[in-house]
Amino acid sequence: MAKLSPSLLSADFGRLAEQIKEVETGGADLIHLDVMDGHFVPNISLGIPVIKSLRKVTKLPFDVHLMIEKPERYIEDFVNAGADIITVHQEVSPHLHRTIQNIKSYDVKAGIAINPSTPLENIKYVLNDIDMVLVMTVNPGFGGQSLIKEMKHKIIELKRMIKDKGLNVEIEVDGGVKLENVREVIDWGADVIVAGSAIFKAEDVIKQTKKFKDLINR
Ligand code: DX5
Ligand code: ZN
Repeated sequence: MAKLSPSLLSADFGRLAEQIKEVETGGADLIHLDVMDGHFVPNISLGIPVIKSLRKVTKLPFDVHLMIEKPERYIEDFVNAGADIITVHQEVSPHLHRTIQNIKSYDVKAGIAINPSTPLENIKYVLNDIDMVLVMTVNPGFGGQSLIKEMKHKIIELKRMIKDKGLNVEIEVDGGVKLENVREVIDWGADVIVAGSAIFKAEDVIKQTKKFKDLINR
């Protein structure tokens, strides 16, 4: 069964604790936290102290998506802030293998994120070292964009690669996932669904989370 990881990027930042409780009540499996540095991506979001404060609000695993340059400098800080999964982008990690080993040395899960234009070839030789691949289905930086259709082929191909190698690696799909396309995305091979605007811009966040869960469990 696929898991749901609501992205706080589209939440009301003045009521983050409350919004986490809402998605938790609705059945969220993880909490997706988008960290942006204004360099790797054009936007700036939240960081280490915010994650640390939110750690007290819920027991749900924190799925931390680092959209920052030199992520290797901050791994320990994010572990101490309460991250359960740390995902770094392949595009900013020339020593990806070393960074993955560093993440795993803290006993947290390691993920690699790839932008829409990044080929699967770039992660092929580290696939057996990681727990998750985050496939960006929009260009990272902002919520509320539309899923890039071509990513369907990437997800299907990645699923096949993982299966052929007999690995236990999850595929997380991030960007443009809505109630209307979530089933399709799961059929392509998604194991973890990220949804930001589709959940937090809804009138009733609890109900909307439940609707996602119902569709995912179908
Ligand atoms: C975008 C972030 C996403 C974002 C997704 O760079 O990585 O997690 O919140 O937002 P939606 O679901 O609105 O496309
Ligand atoms: Zn994200």
